[in-house]
Amino acid sequence: MTKIIDGKIVSAQIKEEIKANTQLLKQKSGIIPGLALLIVGEDPASQVYVRNKEKTCLELGFNSILKQLPIDATEKECLDIIHSWNNDENIHGILVQLPLPKQINEQNIIKSISLQKDVDGFLPENLGRLVIGLPCYVPCTPNGIIELIKRYNIETKGKHVVVVGRSNIVGKPIANLLYQKKENANSIVTICHTAADDIREYTKQADILIAAVGVPELIKADYIKEGVVIIDVGVNRVSDPSSPKGSRLCGDVDYNSVFDHCSAITPVPGGVGPMTIAMLMQNTYKSAAGEIKF
Ligand code: GUN
Repeated sequence: MTKIIDGKIVSAQIKEEIKANTQLLKQKSGIIPGLALLIVGEDPASQVYVRNKEKTCLELGFNSILKQLPIDATEKECLDIIHSWNNDENIHGILVQLPLPKQINEQNIIKSISLQKDVDGFLPENLGRLVIGLPCYVPCTPNGIIELIKRYNIETKGKHVVVVGRSNIVGKPIANLLYQKKENANSIVTICHTAADDIREYTKQADILIAAVGVPELIKADYIKEGVVIIDVGVNRVSDPSSPKGSRLCGDVDYNSVFDHCSAITPVPGGVGPMTIAMLMQNTYKSAAGEIKF
């Protein structure tokens, strides 16, 4: 029987835990976690993501600020906003929704965020700390994957994890987390990407397969080994005339094709996606509570 790894249930549990801890923090020290969100332009998917983050702040008893800039905003305007947030003691986390318009250099913006408020975990110093195992903010989607692995008791020690995709947000950090010598890690990790002649050569070796490439339903039954655990990070909208909207969401994995051949799988939607916001809230709580000592 294939187990469905349910990110909606796990993220709801984590949010309840954070909500309770937030009340305690308020009672003990008067601190209310505060998250500042910056969005540039009107990309519909980014708008939905940011509004969900704002809504979740409200649910958990956090403060939030949302700043929206027009699509033609300058790098200087973004930097000025981040600078003021860096100096505001009521703001514990700063999130700049990516992607940014072309005239704005993404790395310049990320680097301007104070290390203590980098709740996305995107700063080069944060990622460097992650690689060498120092305290840091773990990027939210990779952290959500680790949390799912932990709460579903998926064995990782000595297992071969194959990550498809090498993005800074998912592929690189999840690969680096999973080979660390610690609980819920200690795996043998392979990263494969577009330079492979045939990624099946690698994906077929996986005990745990993590797909994070943004190619709809790339991974099919002939890409996997019987009994693999599949973590699907893809969120792709594809046209579907049979759906009332004319389109549907799908992952990087062809769910129906692989389902009978894997031992566990995250669905899309409802798998990794809901975990990302929960982990963002956890990082913001940790910042407010001073739990990460740099
Ligand atoms: N765009 C897509 N995913 C993310 C994320 O995790 N954080 C930010 N800031 N932007 C994103």
